[in-house]
Amino acid sequence: MGGVAKATTRHRCLDCGATTVRWVGRCPSCGEWNSLVAESALDPLVQAVDALDLASPVPLASVDPLAAAAVPTGVAEFDRVLSGGLVPGSVTLLGGEPGIGKSTLLLQVLRSRAAGGGRVLLVSAEESAHQVRLRAERLGPVPPSLLVLAATELEAVAAALATAEPVLVVVDSVQAVSAGSAAEAGAPGGPPGTVGQVRAVADRLVSLAKRQGVSVVLVGHVTKDGGLAGPRTLEHLVDTVLAFEGDRHHSLRLLRAVKHRFGPTGELGLFEMGDQGLAAVANPGRLLLGDRLTGVPGGIVLPAVEGRRTLVVELQALVTPMAQAQPKRSVVGLDGGRLAMVLAVLARHSGLPTVAVDVFASVAGGVRVLEPAADLALALAVASAVAGVPLPADAAAVGEVGLAGEVRQVTALVRRLEECARLGFRRIVVPRSAPAGPEGVELVRVDTVGDALTAFGLSGTGHGEPDGPGPCPGAGSRPGTIAP
Ligand code: TYD
Ligand code: MG
Repeated sequence: MGGVAKATTRHRCLDCGATTVRWVGRCPSCGEWNSLVAESALDPLVQAVDALDLASPVPLASVDPLAAAAVPTGVAEFDRVLSGGLVPGSVTLLGGEPGIGKSTLLLQVLRSRAAGGGRVLLVSAEESAHQVRLRAERLGPVPPSLLVLAATELEAVAAALATAEPVLVVVDSVQAVSAGSAAEAGAPGGPPGTVGQVRAVADRLVSLAKRQGVSVVLVGHVTKDGGLAGPRTLEHLVDTVLAFEGDRHHSLRLLRAVKHRFGPTGELGLFEMGDQGLAAVANPGRLLLGDRLTGVPGGIVLPAVEGRRTLVVELQALVTPMAQAQPKRSVVGLDGGRLAMVLAVLARHSGLPTVAVDVFASVAGGVRVLEPAADLALALAVASAVAGVPLPADAAAVGEVGLAGEVRQVTALVRRLEECARLGFRRIVVPRSAPAGPEGVELVRVDTVGDALTAFGLSGTGHGEPDGPGPCPGAGSRPGTIAP
């Protein structure tokens, strides 16, 4: 019976991508009704192509390593994140929130690559060719070898690839392309953008990229929770996953490689969105610290590290009387768990009352600093806010805080100190074991958070320390003790 055959076919949820061994009315993973489709019906194009691609094994030594060499696009920050450029035959997924600048970035990449020689193709599935032309107008001259195809059908994309033979194709966006209309036999069901459609489109493009040796970049919009909607399931299909981030209300944009088969993922690309598109940011300090207000309690500077870049950012804390029955903790660009830990350490080891107050902490400029190296600066910012005592304008702090209140070593400390010094920060609070600092910089070496508070006259209210000696043994004799 048909029902029996159906019962043994793998099905995939068009909403969340989960698979089941048989059809069920409701997805056991996401709870959506009627969202399961037989996998055999999902990727017929892929299965056909995969069958053709079956090759015989070859000696690994006979494989040309240079065949996978990256080709620079000419957009330096983009190439930096990709450790050189785009590899022919590779597929890259660029994820980011709507409006962050994905289309702008890729149009600049296409322009640059075309200007450097080679035909490139933009498949614009969201905007008309006219709209693309208008955008390109803002970015500068348009090279004749930049082709545009305004289409939403996968078949049209495949045909254009075959006839135009570009070296680089951008598909903007993968969610707006559909793999055949629902009326066609075997086409995945649902409108474009569902997991089934997105996967079918990406699968086909991966096959075409490999076969034609063309670099493919897919644009994917992300949802609020940070995951790629639909494209989430593409992350293991593609060679490289890039995340384009930033705060839409700020001009700074950060490009990161989340996954990269051809190089390391630690690199960070920095752009500034302006009237003529995205420009490389050589000196992020100007953007990140430009509007800083000094002499206000709760602010301190922190040298954060991302890949090989050091970003000196301002960390701010605000402490207000509790507005509701529960104390509120709110973070922007920081790890909420680390804030809770720092508050607990401050309360337990430094007697700083934070239990009955609302605490807000943020990193200015739309940057995210999730590393533990931010702990010490966070503790100082909160303590400064609680005491209502501003920290010196030229002070910075870096160090991880342990649960016993100890301040620990962090990675790349020398580089962090050098960048602070370059930007004019002269007093840097560091773990005791820190190496010597750059010339002209005073290192305030601390063993504990309590030491750091004492150094800035921010010690607790005196009713802390339930167990044991004072928070800052010998703090009075510390070098670098600074009056507020
Ligand atoms: P866009 O690249 O369309 O974002 P995405 O493709 O990620 O949705 O960028 C949209 C924003 O960028 C839009 O608000 C306008 C702004 N923008 C500039 O500020 N300067 C420019 O030169 C361009 C082209 C766009
Ligand atoms: Mg766009």
